[in-house]
Amino acid sequence: METKAVFPEKYAQLYPRSSKYPLEWVYQNQMGPNALWLMEWLCRNVTLSKGSRVLDLGCGCAMSSIFLAEEYDLVVWANDLWIEPSSNWERIQARKLQGQVFPIKAEAHALPYAHSYFDLILSVDAYHYFGTSDEYMAEILKFLKPKGQIGIVVPGFVKELPEEVPDYLAPFHEFHTLSWWKRHWEKTGLVRVDIGLEHPDGWQEWLDFLQVGIDAQLAQDRDFEDYEMLLKDRGEYMGFIQLVATKL
Ligand SMILES: C[S@@+](CC[C@H](N)C(=O)[O-])C[C@H]1O[C@@H](n2cnc3c(N)ncnc32)[C@H](O)[C@@H]1O
Repeated sequence: METKAVFPEKYAQLYPRSSKYPLEWVYQNQMGPNALWLMEWLCRNVTLSKGSRVLDLGCGCAMSSIFLAEEYDLVVWANDLWIEPSSNWERIQARKLQGQVFPIKAEAHALPYAHSYFDLILSVDAYHYFGTSDEYMAEILKFLKPKGQIGIVVPGFVKELPEEVPDYLAPFHEFHTLSWWKRHWEKTGLVRVDIGLEHPDGWQEWLDFLQVGIDAQLAQDRDFEDYEMLLKDRGEYMGFIQLVATKL
């Protein structure tokens, strides 16, 4: 089926790898901002070696896991809680990645993996759901090999919220600023933070992503809420944060 819309031209240059994937597939499987764009942005700042074992934590519909396997030749454990592994397995089989992407249903606080198993732990648009407690870094690092990297992209605030939080931001109480996240990781003493970035154009890219989905009638119900929120905010507070750290 032809879509009525495509991403603006600049995105083919900004995200050449993500741009190869059909728009319909991305919108059918998305659970928020474009997971492929966010993962491609993250992958520029982590060390990737062919065949590395990667935990894609909170992978949702496993789009980012498929992307990691196909684009960087990594071996990926597609770990999620809300999405059934059987539905991710269908998507994995459809891309013929049965030997390279493994769908697992597991709570982020009760992961079933061997200690020091992964070369890399990556997560886009998910870590803020389970990774904001002081204890979590120690918990997740058990599964990462020494000197392995952990990298995340989360939606977050580009500046501290005022005391009186605007109504439209009230639902986003688990979001934080870059400096909050950096402090949150550094104070554990368990990692060296290698990268801490705010996305240079985060809210606009999120809005563009939703706009194309809405125009092409591919958007899901919750997308309209995010769209309204972004139009109210216009980048005043809302953006994306990337952190990459090495296990000490
Ligand atoms: C907004 S969705 C993003 C999914 C995917 N990364 C994407 O960008 O399309 C957040 C994901 O985090 C996962 N998640 C939330 N809490 C979790 C937990 N406690 N343990 C494991 N996964 C969790 C959910 O299952 C959900 O798929």
